[in-house]
Amino acid sequence: MAILVTGGAGYIGSHICVELLRIGEDVIVLDNFSNAKPEVIGRIKQIAGRDFPARAADVRHEAAVRQVFADYDVEAVIHLAGLKAVGESQVLPLRYYQHNVAGALVLCAAMQEAGCKTLVFSSSATVYGAEGPVPFREDHPLSAVNPYGRTKIMIEQILRDLHASDSAWRIASLRYFNPIGAHESGLIGEDPLGTPNNLLPCIAQVAAGRRPRLTVYGGDYDTADGAAVRDYVHVADLAQGHVSALTYLRGYTGAEAFNLGTGRGYSVLELVSAFAAVSGRPIPYVIAPRRAGDIAVCYADAAKAEKILGWRTRRSLRQMCADAWRFTRTMLETAK
Ligand code: UD1
Repeated sequence: MAILVTGGAGYIGSHICVELLRIGEDVIVLDNFSNAKPEVIGRIKQIAGRDFPARAADVRHEAAVRQVFADYDVEAVIHLAGLKAVGESQVLPLRYYQHNVAGALVLCAAMQEAGCKTLVFSSSATVYGAEGPVPFREDHPLSAVNPYGRTKIMIEQILRDLHASDSAWRIASLRYFNPIGAHESGLIGEDPLGTPNNLLPCIAQVAAGRRPRLTVYGGDYDTADGAAVRDYVHVADLAQGHVSALTYLRGYTGAEAFNLGTGRGYSVLELVSAFAAVSGRPIPYVIAPRRAGDIAVCYADAAKAEKILGWRTRRSLRQMCADAWRFTRTMLETAK
């Protein structure tokens, strides 16, 4: 029996595949490669030293998704395929509801039809909205300030309804805080096609000399240094969180949400100086006005995942930066 990873060629999905293969699970990837390069599949195989099937298909394509369940014995699904750019979701809301919500519906229907009822869903801390108090606990009221966030809330709700209708479902919604870092091999990492939106790839581009400076959005927040604070979590720790969730679901029926974060926040400026120290490169920056929709401070209460899943993060901010920098250099070398 195998684990189907939708979006398995993406930043987080590729690290999950590596971790699953490492512990001896069989993996099938479904990815439309809209924000990932096909070479990533070869790199996952290289790191893991194992082969696995990868299908280039969109999770919204009913026939393609059904075919996967017809062709393979799928024990469980880790569902990451979806769009994640907040700004774009405000300009193109229908695209986000289509890809994320309709995609989840197609997948769940195919799972139900095939009798596969174990699902780990890639959710986000964005479901906590703009109001504290921090740290965010899983029972914090859900709200969202943009269509992207609303798709995550809607899908979580759909999954709760699904479990209410059929108690055989085993569902974990994992609410990621800010995944950064890369695999220690330097072979896979965050490599968005086009201009990055998230902070770490922007910092890495400045360190690599591909951008003159970083724009720091907001220097007047009510925080120690005035910059916004986030809970940065190493993507390899995050990947292990999925394995812990999967192991937990094998002995549990229900629909539960878990925070995946470290439980501690760092400011944008702290991340910049950690990255500068690790890379030995200057990272010039300018402080600009706050970015619309940003909140000042966001970090996890990570107690539930530790208590129930037995999962906690192990890698430091320094290691996150060192691994991200190694990956950046690999990318620059291969681009030469
Ligand atoms: C963002 C999304 C969130 C999503 C997550 C993962 C917003 C408002 N939120 O989280 O919903 O789940 O990505 O994709 O977009 N920053 C800079 N300069 C930059 C880029 C970012 O100062 O060039 C700052 C931001 O203002 C923020 C922090 O860095 O304070 C982190 O930003 P980012 O990496 O985009 O993550 P979030 O905004 O926390």
